[in-house]
Amino acid sequence: MIPQSFIQDLLHRVDIVDVVDRYVKLKKAGANFVACCPFHSEKSPSFTVSATKQFYHCFGCGAHGTAVGFMMEYSGLGYVDAIKDLAQSVGMKVPEVERSEYSQRKASESHDLYGVLLEAARFYGKCLKESPRAVDYLKSRGLSGEIAKRFGIGYAPEGWQGLAGAFADYANAALVSAGLVKQNEGKRYDVFRDRIMFPIVDVRGNVIGFGGRVLDTGEPKYLNSPETPVFEKGRELYGLYQARRAIRDAERVLVVEGYMDVVALAQHGIEYAVATLGTATTGLHVQKLLRQADEVVFSFDGDAAGRRAAWRALENSLPELTDGKQVRFLFLPQGDDPDTYVRTHGKAGLEGILQSAVPLSRYLLDELSAQVDLSSAEGRASLVHAAKPLVSKLQKTAFRVQILRELAERSRLALPEVEALCGLPGLEPSRQKASPPPARPARSRTMSSLWRTLLRLMIDAPQLAEALTPDQHRLLETDPEFEPVVALVDMVKATGVSTTGALLEAARGSTHAELYAQVASDGLAGSSSFDDARTDLEGVLAKLELHAVEAQYRVLMVQPPVTEAERALYEDLKRRLAELKGVARVGMVPPT
Ligand code: UTP
Ligand code: MN
Repeated sequence: MIPQSFIQDLLHRVDIVDVVDRYVKLKKAGANFVACCPFHSEKSPSFTVSATKQFYHCFGCGAHGTAVGFMMEYSGLGYVDAIKDLAQSVGMKVPEVERSEYSQRKASESHDLYGVLLEAARFYGKCLKESPRAVDYLKSRGLSGEIAKRFGIGYAPEGWQGLAGAFADYANAALVSAGLVKQNEGKRYDVFRDRIMFPIVDVRGNVIGFGGRVLDTGEPKYLNSPETPVFEKGRELYGLYQARRAIRDAERVLVVEGYMDVVALAQHGIEYAVATLGTATTGLHVQKLLRQADEVVFSFDGDAAGRRAAWRALENSLPELTDGKQVRFLFLPQGDDPDTYVRTHGKAGLEGILQSAVPLSRYLLDELSAQVDLSSAEGRASLVHAAKPLVSKLQKTAFRVQILRELAERSRLALPEVEALCGLPGLEPSRQKASPPPARPARSRTMSSLWRTLLRLMIDAPQLAEALTPDQHRLLETDPEFEPVVALVDMVKATGVSTTGALLEAARGSTHAELYAQVASDGLAGSSSFDDARTDLEGVLAKLELHAVEAQYRVLMVQPPVTEAERALYEDLKRRLAELKGVARVGMVPPT
């Protein structure tokens, strides 16, 4: 847990323009900065970064967010890592609440491990240059020096203590923790000997482990680093660091099984491939990949082992699927892997069969259907039975409805019947989560535009929300439609945030977070000065009060005042009404 106060402090010191500019060269354009969007391919820049709002938005693809959000989207980092990265860039240290002695020790050990692993990678790289045998092997596999360099491929020399050539202190315990050296009955020796070395790099570019291949034949063919405090196989993907740019450009990522596949594909110009690390595809893998591209294609060998691995990938993908994302499966001809396929058929050949990759829904239903006899009632019933545990993993999406509908067709049942059998309630007609309650019909138009306008003004300039008087606050509270506005005002008052970006970070994970981000994006299109915004806000608030006063006034018109107090109120209302009409007219803003 990172304290919210630290995050606000951090956002105060970080400038989103610097953060983005480190990865995407920005150009000044009026009050904002622009660039070609890193999240979709485009020729003219519609990616806009606002320094005053500390917020970015792409008018082309709709991507938007804060500095933290950018780090997460662009680098594929998790929330905590994104915060840590930003903190590091401005020399701040993330305080970790309730950090145990154990985790502290672990953190400082990790620090050593990164250093040791990087040093080892450099050493293996140097050894490759000195080993004609290793260079020849890579050449025989069709790899150029340039690609070997891109992936940092190296060679672990023969001999039991090769790494002594890289580390003055071969007895350093970090070498053992990093999985580079083994200790047995008092003797220490290198884990990787006489092997081609593939460094495994995390999304930040740290070396976190290695895969080592024998040059000729030998067992095991590949040796992999063990899991260490910095290397978790179920989380990492080989080649992702090198592939990020290409994945974004291609808007897809190809997941293959082997190190050599990734490297050979890159050699042939297919740079958007990554590999799992000799383990099954996990949900975390899929999550990480779907953050970078809308389409993930898994490629597996056509043999039984490949089919089994594909099915695991399918099972673990199901909970991660949301509408707009798709997962497909490519089965290569028996005896081929992506490496051999691209070497014989070239880039065009491989991208050609990529087009025929099977969508997850079809793979799922075909595979299950093949196991039953659909011409019998029993068979059709077991189809639904077999599909139940799988479809229950899906989120409540339009995609789930599609799959259920197809399941209904194949099993000759009605959709509601299939839904009931799978224990999945259908989607309600209106699924409004982040949006406010529907407006009451009579005055819906003006009022809806009013709360939206208020929201836009306050999100653009949170100081406006802070300056709201208690009376104005109460005025907003009288109408449930203004709930998102009230929540925003409360949040600004509680946190004291002063930019759009800081506000969106404070709102992260709250009910209206998406709505606020949406409104912030809309707001980037037109930018008005702070004073204009304040006048607009006063106008809107006056208009709101006018509505309230008018309503009271109308009541009095129907039932004329009798008592002295009522008469006084009537006069008061009349005066207020006249006043308000002036302000409301002057400060009125066009509805958004
Ligand atoms: P493959 O046997 O398909 O190897 O294993 P490959 O990547 O095609 O390599 P080449 O073409 O024979 O050189 C696929 C992946 O499974 C893991 C590795 O991650 C490998 O890249 N594996 C395989 C191991 O971890 N250990 C092994 O002994 C074999
Ligand atoms: Mn291979």
